[in-house]
Amino acid sequence: MKTKDIIKDHDLYVMQTYGRYPLVIAKAKGQYVWDNNGKKYLDFFPGWAVSGIGHCHPLVVKRAKEQVAKVIHVPNNYYNLLQGKLAKEIIKNSFSGTVFFCNSGAEAIEGAIKLVRKYGYPKKYEIISMKKSFHGRTLAAITLTGQPKYHKGFKPLPKGFKHVEFNNFEALKKAVTKKTAAIVIEPIQGEGGINVATKEYLKKVKALCNNQDILLIFDEVQSGMGRTGKMFAFEHYGIKPDVMTLAKTLGGGFPIGALVASKKVSKVLTPGTHASTFGGSPIVCAASLAVFEAIKKDKLLLNVNKVGSYLVKELEILKKKYPHIIKGIKGKGLMLGIELHIDGTALPVLALKEGLLINCTQGNILRMLPPLNITKHNVDEALKLFEKVLKKV
Ligand SMILES: Cc1ncc(COP(=O)(O)O)c(C=O)c1O
Repeated sequence: MKTKDIIKDHDLYVMQTYGRYPLVIAKAKGQYVWDNNGKKYLDFFPGWAVSGIGHCHPLVVKRAKEQVAKVIHVPNNYYNLLQGKLAKEIIKNSFSGTVFFCNSGAEAIEGAIKLVRKYGYPKKYEIISMKKSFHGRTLAAITLTGQPKYHKGFKPLPKGFKHVEFNNFEALKKAVTKKTAAIVIEPIQGEGGINVATKEYLKKVKALCNNQDILLIFDEVQSGMGRTGKMFAFEHYGIKPDVMTLAKTLGGGFPIGALVASKKVSKVLTPGTHASTFGGSPIVCAASLAVFEAIKKDKLLLNVNKVGSYLVKELEILKKKYPHIIKGIKGKGLMLGIELHIDGTALPVLALKEGLLINCTQGNILRMLPPLNITKHNVDEALKLFEKVLKKV
C-alpha cells in the first residue's frame, strides 16, 4: 500500500485525536525503524518509551511467540502461569507489596486514584498532584494532571483534586488538609519538560506523608524500568513510595500497566472492587518478564549510566557550539531534555527529514528517551543528525 493511501485511510476513518508526523513505520528493530519506502531512521524516542529496550527485542519476541502458541488469554477469574511470577519480579525490584495489572499508564493511575479513595474513605479523599505533571487521558487522569490545557472542554471534572508547584515544599505543605489522602509525583516529570525532583524536596514530602498519614504515590510510567539508570527513579532518592504506577517499557512494546502498592494499602481493594478484563494476560506477562530478564542479562542499567553520561557530555559540547539555540541539558540517565532558547515544535519534523526521531514537549524542550541498550556509536550517529538540524534553525 502506498504511503499516501495509508495516511488517507487514517484521515478518513481514524478519529483525529493525534497530531501525526508524515511517517509510516513499516518495520522496526533495536534502535532503528524503517518507513514504508525502506528509509531508515534512528529512534531516540521509541514509542514514547514503550519500546524502551529497543524495538522487537529478540527475547521479548521469543517469549511472546512461545506464549501465543500456548494460550493467548486467561480471564482473571482463573489463574495464569505468569501473572504471579511477573508481580513477584516487580515487587522484588521495587518495594514490598502487591500488584494490580491493567493495560496502560492512565489505567494504572485510575486504579491508584480508586485505591486512594477506598483507603481514605470516608474522611480522606483529596489528592494533591503537581503543576506540569502528566498522568494520562482518562477523565480522572486529566484531572490529576496539572496542566489546564488538558482540562479544556472536559469540565466539570471530578472533585477532590489540587495542583501545586513542583519542587516547592512550602506550597505543598500549605495545600495539605485533614482531607488529604495522597500526594502524587513523577520523580522526573516527563511530558512536563524533564523536570527532576530534588532529593531534599522528596525527602521532606516523604516525612510529611509519614507524619500526616498521607499516601505517597510515584508515577513511574515514564521514569521506571531502568530509564534513569536505576530500575525505578525513586531509588535515586533513598525513599520508597506507598504506591507506584508503571507502564510503557514494562511491556517491551506490549500494552501493560501496573499498580503497585504496599500490602497495608492494597488490601482495601477486595474482590469485586476493581478489575480489568485484559489485565495481566499471559502474552504481556511473558513479554514483561523478558524485559526484566534482558535488563539484567544485558546489564542495561550500567549501560544507561555509561551511555547517558556520554550523551550529556556530547550535548554539552553542542550547547557550547550553539549557545543561541541550546539553553541547557536536564534529566537523568537516558531520560533527557534539551532546553531551547527558541520554540522547538518544528525541530522533530526537521530531525525526521534527517532520519532521527525525537520529541518536543512544552514548546521548548526536546525530549530524548533512547532505548536503554543504545551504544556510544548510536549517540555519535544521533548527534551528527541533530547537528544538521541545528544548522538549519
Ligand atoms: C508519567 C506518565 N503517567 C501516565 C501516562 C499515561 O500513560 P498511557 O498513555 O499509557 O495511558 C504517561 C504517558 O505519557 C506518563 O508519561
